[in-house]
Amino acid sequence: MPTLLITGANRGLGLELTREFARHHWRVLACCRSPEEAGDLQALAAAAEAVAIHRLEVGDIAQVRDLAGRLKGAPIDILFNNAGIFGPKHQRFGETDEAGWLEAFRINCIAPLRLAEAFVEHVAASERRVIATMGSVMGSIAENGSGGDYAYRTSKAAVHMVMKGLAVDLAARGIVTVVLHPGWVQTSMGGSNAPLTPEASAAGLTEVLLGLRREQSGMLIDYQGNVRPW
Ligand SMILES: NC(=O)c1ccc[n+]([C@@H]2O[C@H](COP(=O)([O-])OP(=O)(O)OC[C@H]3O[C@@H](n4cnc5c(N)ncnc54)[C@H](OP(=O)(O)O)[C@@H]3O)[C@@H](O)[C@H]2O)c1
Repeated sequence: MPTLLITGANRGLGLELTREFARHHWRVLACCRSPEEAGDLQALAAAAEAVAIHRLEVGDIAQVRDLAGRLKGAPIDILFNNAGIFGPKHQRFGETDEAGWLEAFRINCIAPLRLAEAFVEHVAASERRVIATMGSVMGSIAENGSGGDYAYRTSKAAVHMVMKGLAVDLAARGIVTVVLHPGWVQTSMGGSNAPLTPEASAAGLTEVLLGLRREQSGMLIDYQGNVRPW
């Protein structure tokens, strides 16, 4: 049975991706920072034997390494860095908050690299060997037509570069690295005006991941399978 490890699995896109991969008969290591508060995920794990919940605050390197150690020897076919934050409420020109901006960088950009470093042997030992990170067209320099959102946009642009670097660094180990854009989705981050449901986005992202080809490594791909510009 192939295995997915996903962060931020307790709600939003992470929860739907967990549901979707379980439906495709994958084992899912569903990580979230407060399992005791993750009612929906607990219900899913109770109904689907292949879903196991693990506590993981992605910004806590000790927790990341501890989980990697406890899972030592277990192949992970897809390591999916899904957890992310928008950052400070106000991010327009003239109102950027430095501490909040740094926190967005820590969680959205640095944590995915730390996870890749901690779990690279698990991924290398698997059949599919994929590291995926949730990026965003909000982090695309080419597609920025509306400005603002400085903390979020720059943290995503930076993680795009991290993943491109991993695609180069880990190619010799046969590891495929992609950045995914889920569309604009109705989650707590995306808000209720978003046109896409988490179910539709997760279904599209799952299809993209299951059909991933080696030559797509180092690309930004949306939930419909389109390659988007950096
Ligand atoms: N929704 C959109 O339109 C959209 C568009 C483009 C990209 N994305 C990206 O898609 C990903 C998922 O977003 P979403 O829309 O599902 O947002 P969401 O509903 O706000 O969920 C965010 C998830 O990330 C987790 N998380 C945040 N900080 C964490 C940390 N330090 N450690 C562990 N988990 C943490 C949250 O856990 P808690 O419940 O513990 O806070 C939650 O599970 C994010 O990377 C986001 O940037 C979303």
